[in-house]
Amino acid sequence: SAPAPAPPILQGPLGSARLPLLLCWLRLCLAGSAPAPHLVVVLADDLGWHDVGWHDSLIRTPQLDALGAGGVRLERYYTQPLCTPSRSQLLTGRYQIHTGLQHQIIWPCQPSCVPLNEKLLPELLKEAGYDTHMVGKWHLGMYRKECLPTRRGFDTYFGYLLGSEDYYSHERCVFISAKNATRCALDFRDGEEVAVGFGNMYSTNIFTKRAVDLIASHKTEKPLFLYLALQSVHEPLQVPGKYMKPYDFIKDEKRRHYAGMVSIMDEAVGNVTAALKRFGLWNNTVLIFSTDNGGQTLGGGNNWPLRGRKWTLWEGGVRGVGFVASPLLKQRGVESHELIHISDWLPTLVNLAGGHINSTKPLDGFDVWKTISEGSPSPRKELLHNIDPMFVDTSPCEYTIHC
Ligand SMILES: *[C@@H]1O[C@H](CO)[C@@H](O)[C@H](O)[C@H]1NC(C)=O
Ligand SMILES: *[C@@H]1O[C@H](CO)[C@@H](O)[C@H](O)[C@H]1NC(C)=O
Ligand SMILES: *[C@@H]1O[C@H](CO)[C@@H](O)[C@H](O)[C@H]1NC(C)=O
Ligand SMILES: *[C@@H]1O[C@H](CO)[C@@H](O)[C@H](O)[C@H]1NC(C)=O
Repeated sequence: SAPAPAPPILQGPLGSARLPLLLCWLRLCLAGSAPAPHLVVVLADDLGWHDVGWHDSLIRTPQLDALGAGGVRLERYYTQPLCTPSRSQLLTGRYQIHTGLQHQIIWPCQPSCVPLNEKLLPELLKEAGYDTHMVGKWHLGMYRKECLPTRRGFDTYFGYLLGSEDYYSHERCVFISAKNATRCALDFRDGEEVAVGFGNMYSTNIFTKRAVDLIASHKTEKPLFLYLALQSVHEPLQVPGKYMKPYDFIKDEKRRHYAGMVSIMDEAVGNVTAALKRFGLWNNTVLIFSTDNGGQTLGGGNNWPLRGRKWTLWEGGVRGVGFVASPLLKQRGVESHELIHISDWLPTLVNLAGGHINSTKPLDGFDVWKTISEGSPSPRKELLHNIDPMFVDTSPCEYTIHC
């Protein structure tokens, strides 16, 4: 299908000049009565359609179930089938055919990142007066310092820059064909510095603690933007044993591990939400929970009844688990069957923030807040998955690396 038309906020010189002025003025007048909302985006990695309680999974996700049930569950929500493309669309609001990230992911040795002339969501929110923090997986390129999260709009960053690694050692191993050898390196950063001292600590616990600390210390009048990109539930299949215990009845070993990983992730989201409540942010927070793509059925995930998996353009690869939870929603406790895409979050969030999208490059995303909050029809009529076949690779294993 053809690329979707530009969203209304960008249409015409009058629209783009007048609307932001009006928004600024409104925000000034209403300052105090309607401060810009705190925005929290929790991105799960490789979480499948059939891996959450409300899709009748055997895996229990009480925290996510409750949040979704009290918010708006997105049942016709799409992502891209892979990490880098999905994550790039989340932060640029543009299809990856426009950013050179069309094929596959950014591999560890690849000198590539989201083009530096793209203004990312955290930069736009910073301009709108937000404090911006990121915790977790970046995977949008790191070959130059200019590509790092802290150079692209985040005040602070804590996490790993590549696509996957060991949950405890935080090392990524890569086979270097020129050397005929495997080399491992620590991929863990606090800001731009390598973060040591977290060995043998499970990433989901570390990231949750950082997110909770950021929320606890957010004592300013400024609105908060927190992007928590969890390692859960991507391979390798690792999880503290106690989270697997309730799943002794699952015979398949991969699935049993995976179930434990989903459970600790569920607990993590519960802890973050509890912190937002405890520290008084929740009543003015919009929380988005989303997977980055479909489940990897070769690594414990399950997308039933959808066909296919991560890396494929079947529904199981691109139809995503997601919901929005917020006291600011006008409708709550409903399912949305309107078409929504991961590229829609940028215009939606920037508009909620009272921000200003003044890029000369057209966005592919739409502001879907009214669709979610009020149940009005989605402005999106179609979406672009891809324009040519995905990289043809017979190996399903992400660890086959071409360096
Ligand atoms: C690469 O290393 C392996 C074992 O480390 C060895 O068996 C193999 O011969 C080596 N290949 C080349 C092309 O040197
Ligand atoms: C959630 O908080 C509890 C209580 O502080 C803690 O024991 C648990 O490890 C936390 N969960 C995660 C995933 O960090
Ligand atoms: C949120 O709670 C604070 C403190 O209780 C209150 O001042 C503020 O008006 C509330 N905001 C909303 C949107 O209800
Ligand atoms: C875009 O808007 C921001 C915030 O209003 C402003 O600081 C920036 O200069 C603008 N950029 C352009 C290219 O107009």
